[in-house]
Amino acid sequence: MEVIIKQNAEAGSHAAAAAVARLIREQPDAVLGLATGSTPLILYKELIRMHREEGLDFSRVTTFNLDEYVGLPAGHEQSYHRFMQENFFCHINIKPENVHIPDGMTTDVPAFCADYEQAIAEAGGIDLQVLGIGSDGHVGFNEPTSSFASRTRIKTLTRQTVADNARFFNGDESKVPHHCITMGIGTIMDARMVLMLAFGGNKAEAVAAMVEGPVAAVMPASILQHHPCAKVFVDEPAAERLKLADYYRWIYDNKPGWQKDC
Ligand code: PGA
Repeated sequence: MEVIIKQNAEAGSHAAAAAVARLIREQPDAVLGLATGSTPLILYKELIRMHREEGLDFSRVTTFNLDEYVGLPAGHEQSYHRFMQENFFCHINIKPENVHIPDGMTTDVPAFCADYEQAIAEAGGIDLQVLGIGSDGHVGFNEPTSSFASRTRIKTLTRQTVADNARFFNGDESKVPHHCITMGIGTIMDARMVLMLAFGGNKAEAVAAMVEGPVAAVMPASILQHHPCAKVFVDEPAAERLKLADYYRWIYDNKPGWQKDC
């Protein structure tokens, strides 16, 4: 894992955006795995700015989102479909047919999930996966004890995640769905590059456990220690509990120029 500590969420997100933009410029038909939540918002804003001001071209890019709530129609205010449209897709030149997000209203969840996996495979696999981390260590909605071999499937959210996400539902926990469809940990680990973003002191404990703790299914994000190309972008508050923070800064500061892509 490469840990990149930036002063604030803006600097961390811009560094991650630089890595995404570099991939798209080198490989215009790149396949991106995308995330929702508060964390990637600045990243999407920066990519939109690059599209508008620097001509970053999404016309051949394909995307697969990590997850969606079961029971929310695409047009629902809190659906991840809506989130992605409003915060990213409607501001760039991506083709609607190249966008994939799990369908929270599917009537046949297992068949839908198998098709989602098949579509990822047919697209050639995910080149770059954007991830956030839950305060309970989840990635996508792979909650603690999710199998490291899991593929896209239905999951039950933890009480912690329901409480964390209630802020998007006017603070009303009773409105937060209890189930979701999420890419599995195996699906995420197949991505050729992973960019994990984590900002704010409320993520410090999960970040430390992910980077420096044992690899264990109770801390799903810890599996990224086994990923051959995982970059972790954190701000100072999220880096607070990292024992080797100074070493990560030292590594970044001493990176040879040819290796600096973000
Ligand atoms: P957040 O969620 O970006 O809203 O903090 C991250 C996650 O739950 O994966």
